[in-house]
Amino acid sequence: MNKAEQFIQSRLQERADKGILRALSSTNFPIDFSSNDYLGFARSAELKIRTATTLGQIPHYKNGATGSRLLSGNHNFTEETEQAIANFHQAEAGLIFNSGYDANVGLISSLAQRGDTVIADELIHASLIDGARLSHANRYTFKHNDLNELEAKLKVAKGNIYVLIESVYSMDGDIAPLVEINKLCHQYQAQLIVDEAHALGVFGDHGVGLVQMLGLEHEVFARIVTFGKALGCHGAIVLGSTNLRTYLINFARSFVYTTAAPIHAIAAIHSAYQMLIKTDYTTKIKSKITLYLNLLKDSNIPTIQSTSAIQTVLFNNSSEAKAAAQSLQIKGIDVRAILSPTVAEGKERLRICLHLFNSDLEIKKLVNELKTLKHE
Ligand SMILES: Cc1ncc(COP(=O)(O)O)c(C=O)c1O
Repeated sequence: MNKAEQFIQSRLQERADKGILRALSSTNFPIDFSSNDYLGFARSAELKIRTATTLGQIPHYKNGATGSRLLSGNHNFTEETEQAIANFHQAEAGLIFNSGYDANVGLISSLAQRGDTVIADELIHASLIDGARLSHANRYTFKHNDLNELEAKLKVAKGNIYVLIESVYSMDGDIAPLVEINKLCHQYQAQLIVDEAHALGVFGDHGVGLVQMLGLEHEVFARIVTFGKALGCHGAIVLGSTNLRTYLINFARSFVYTTAAPIHAIAAIHSAYQMLIKTDYTTKIKSKITLYLNLLKDSNIPTIQSTSAIQTVLFNNSSEAKAAAQSLQIKGIDVRAILSPTVAEGKERLRICLHLFNSDLEIKKLVNELKTLKHE
């Protein structure tokens, strides 16, 4: 075995010894409490039909984009879709990236320069962390949702300051104190960047997201909205000023140096937004969340408080969390364990996603099973 193979082997062995070796699995269980398909769009027959109809109206569309957006891969329809999404979110402009990961990496790494400061909530998504790592800026984190720590970091920050948060945290499901963070950002002339991946479709009128629900759309510097969760599609958009859009077209390497998304992906995104515009699903998804929380009330199951579609059940270690997930899966309930290093050691958990399509009976069955789990 050569040195590189030895290195690979030893890193994998380390993970296996700790019981946290990741592996792909295509097993799905009948009752979905795991996917990010909050509104059921990924499985929606209506979305399939709408997408096909939209595609039918685009003459001679190609299977592949054939190049990057700056070369042969741009299309009027993509630009029209970007503007329509920006309008829905009351932003001046938007630029579509091939994924939320690409959007965050491209945005942060291109914006923050040497001498600037990036201050991030300690629980932000890996894609934002990677974007900050790729920049040459000074990087700080603050304790999750802790305004005092954020202010302390803002006081010593230099250059252009960027504060990175999620409106709904992907692994905890809790919500950022957006109004207060926005206030601090204004006080210290920092630019607030909000990842709305898990707020779209769930918060605000017609699921516009938490930033708009709080009327902060003209306050924040940029928003990232991803299409792979409630929208049931793939890709993401960065929302901000027209100048920011032009800047990203010029400097965001994950936008410039990649083949554009194909038109059928854009048609699906366009059609999914039409569905959000046509129907407000938020009351219905809220009723599912409320039912779950009510059923859980008075049990002493350890959770993180959340009013979003993401709920948690905490364990002390990965083997407990894995055993809990397995015991639910045997009963046909698809719930996954989230282990370190995705979450901190000792904070391993079941991550439960509630969906529009989960029947009340399914939610009751889930909670009954959760009540039988052991937490040592
Ligand atoms: C908060 C957050 N931001 C960004 C992403 C990345 O989005 P995508 O899956 O489209 O790459 C995710 C999804 O994993 C996420 O949870």
